[in-house]
Amino acid sequence: MIEVKNIEKSFGENKILKGISTIFETGKTNLIIGQSGSGKTVLLKSLLGIHTPEAGQICFDGRVYSDLEDDEKRELRTEIGMVFQGSALFDSMTVAENVGFPLKMFTKDDKAKIAERVEFVLKRVNLIDAHKKLPSEISGGMQKRVAIARAIVNRPKYLFCDEPNSGLDPNTSILIDNLIKEITEEYEITTVINTHDMNSVMEIGDNILFLKDGLKEWQGNKEEIFYTDNEAVTAFVYSSNLFKKVREAHLKG
Ligand SMILES: Nc1ncnc2c1ncn2[C@@H]1O[C@H](COP(=O)(O)OP(=O)(O)O)[C@@H](O)[C@H]1O
Ligand SMILES: [Mg+2]
Repeated sequence: MIEVKNIEKSFGENKILKGISTIFETGKTNLIIGQSGSGKTVLLKSLLGIHTPEAGQICFDGRVYSDLEDDEKRELRTEIGMVFQGSALFDSMTVAENVGFPLKMFTKDDKAKIAERVEFVLKRVNLIDAHKKLPSEISGGMQKRVAIARAIVNRPKYLFCDEPNSGLDPNTSILIDNLIKEITEEYEITTVINTHDMNSVMEIGDNILFLKDGLKEWQGNKEEIFYTDNEAVTAFVYSSNLFKKVREAHLKG
């Protein structure tokens, strides 16, 4: 469980996160949604320790990040898996080398042990026969699977994904979303996903945090989001015509 308490983050004069508090639950896909520019990536990068909030606390299963010693922070970092926007694979490394990279960096595992683990996670994300390929030789959806495999290879307690569906077609997006959800439940990971994709909300919205202008505007789950009266949330949800029609039909009874 990750507890965020009143965090504030500014860049110069510009306050981006204006005092956000929330809880991201273990074994659940916790979504951060909101318009582009609402602060989703800044919040995720604050969890990751890339940004340092000037106020508030982030607590990882009882460990307050800002109170940790440097070596404890490094240790905590090894418990986090990250899927960056656009996959961010190393172009010159094969799929297997990409996936094995965190083990080479953060563990003392020997070659054989790394190869065994890489084999296991590549199978887990349903990638077979791709080990020796370069990222440029596989599809966007496969690249995303490699990024997920790399993020989970070191058995993370926390998994952060920034717009994991960007650039994917709707069907592939749903497969990727469900893969992340399955992995989250199977390995009891605390997963946080940034998205502005309503399909993801419907598919995997266990716990949804809606950000607006750097504040928590609303929180709930994928059932509640369709029937809330919150105007900012409904404007976001029903910006798609399809959902607008579903709501109108529901209100008519
Ligand atoms: N490193 C940075 N320096 C200055 N401003 C930033 C930085 N990162 C993000 N911002 C600003 O913070 C706001 C929120 O950005 P971001 O979190 O990326 O939004 P999104 O919800 O689309 O992920 C934007 O106005 C952006 O310009
Ligand atoms: Mg973003």
